[in-house]
Amino acid sequence: MTATDDKKCPKRLHVITWGCQMNVYDSGRMADVLAPLGFAPTATPDDADMVILNTCHIRDKAAEKVFSELGRLRVVKQAREAAGRSTILAVAGCVAQAEGAEIVARAPYVDIVLGPQTYHRLPEMVARAARAGGGVIETDFPAEAKFDYLPDSATTQGVTAFLTIQEGCDKFCSFCVVPYTRGAEASRPAAAVIAEARHLVAQGTREITLLGQNVNAWHGEAPGGGTWSFGRLIRALAELPGLLRLRYTTSHPRDMDDDLIDAHRDVPQLMPFLHLPVQSGSDRMLAAMNRRHTVDDYLRLVERLRTARPDLALSSDFIVGHPGESDADFEATLHLVRRVGFAQAFSFQYSSRPGTPAAGAPLQVAEPLKHERLQGLLALLREQQAAFNARSRGLVMPVLFTGPGRRPGQLSGRSPFLQPVHVNGPISLIGQVAPVTIVDGRPNSLAGTLTLEQICA
Ligand code: SAH
Ligand code: SF4
Ligand code: F3S
Repeated sequence: MTATDDKKCPKRLHVITWGCQMNVYDSGRMADVLAPLGFAPTATPDDADMVILNTCHIRDKAAEKVFSELGRLRVVKQAREAAGRSTILAVAGCVAQAEGAEIVARAPYVDIVLGPQTYHRLPEMVARAARAGGGVIETDFPAEAKFDYLPDSATTQGVTAFLTIQEGCDKFCSFCVVPYTRGAEASRPAAAVIAEARHLVAQGTREITLLGQNVNAWHGEAPGGGTWSFGRLIRALAELPGLLRLRYTTSHPRDMDDDLIDAHRDVPQLMPFLHLPVQSGSDRMLAAMNRRHTVDDYLRLVERLRTARPDLALSSDFIVGHPGESDADFEATLHLVRRVGFAQAFSFQYSSRPGTPAAGAPLQVAEPLKHERLQGLLALLREQQAAFNARSRGLVMPVLFTGPGRRPGQLSGRSPFLQPVHVNGPISLIGQVAPVTIVDGRPNSLAGTLTLEQICA
């Protein structure tokens, strides 16, 4: 078969994604890169000519899942081989970057191992794997910028979409693998971001979440030369006709500058919900974590943000049981949570990651104690989330409808504060924002009603 025939031949691609929103975005982009080779998505690995595992290395359990999934896929690959069909098995993402050699050693039936910075080279890797029968490893940080080599997105993301604008991290928190798996901070040029946003809107996207490991560290090349701040980029994106809503994640408290805070005051498209991880409420722990901010810095930042946008709802990430964390440090975290009041938050037991400074630190906290602290924090955060949702009852909120709900006649949407909202209504409302009267605020979602006018429209 010639290379040209090969391109025309329809093939199936199955992608399994773990980890953060950036991995979700990357999985879409990998599918875009492979589409010109004839690969179309399929929902199961059994009929896939290529399977990509897009992996996450952030916690021990996340990384372990990869090897158990590989064991299952080995069986699928063997069964297909027995039926005369080949399968290219690729491991991408942060586990591939951190443990490329180990993957090859433990799972030699894997054909391609590629880090997050090399997926623009996938077509060439697929060709090499086909020629050599596997054994392709690409985990370097190439000099060329990946984004310059990616085609326009062919996969439609839908009413809400992710757009990566920044990648990598220079912060080196004591516990975290991201600076090692994603490399140094890099920002995409503003013109490229705006072009991709315009493309998404043309495909029907109405809400874009800008992504970056430190998204608010973005400072990119301006369209006319020079550099734009992140706040300036948000203002430019807000001018795109048809783009109704903007969000961004994940931010570091250190990179929250005046310009960005002002954007929360001035740009109505910027939704009043911010994920701003603090990790701990103890200054001692924040110093041990190398977070480079104090509790007071965080509280003052929250105050400035709430002054700029009084209805701003906050979310955060917390780690319990970092080496050296005492009962008093943990109590300080609970105290901070009570002072701020979060609309939602994620909390994790500290997980020792090889190669990070905290992994070798003395005074590791025992697992049962970490577990106990996590349960305490989770209970408080759940209570706050439930109270936040309950307070929504009776309010009229603009809801962006994203798709049909689970029950017939039902629609799913998002409130400005990222709460899932369910109403009965016509599917013609999908992709639109309409006012909804919230009738019930449940712990994880809201129920509402449309006015008769909207139902009949
Ligand atoms: N860039 C973001 C977070 C990226 S990782 C930030 O700076 O906040 C997402 C979250 O995973 C982190 O906020 C942290 O709470 C958690 N996390 C990271 N490393 C971890 C580890 N070793 N153990 C437990 N949780 C961890
Ligand atoms: Fe990890 Fe810290 Fe960087 Fe966030 S800021 S990605 S937690 S090193
Ligand atoms: Fe996981 Fe890598 Fe994202 S470690 S959280 S997939 S940056």
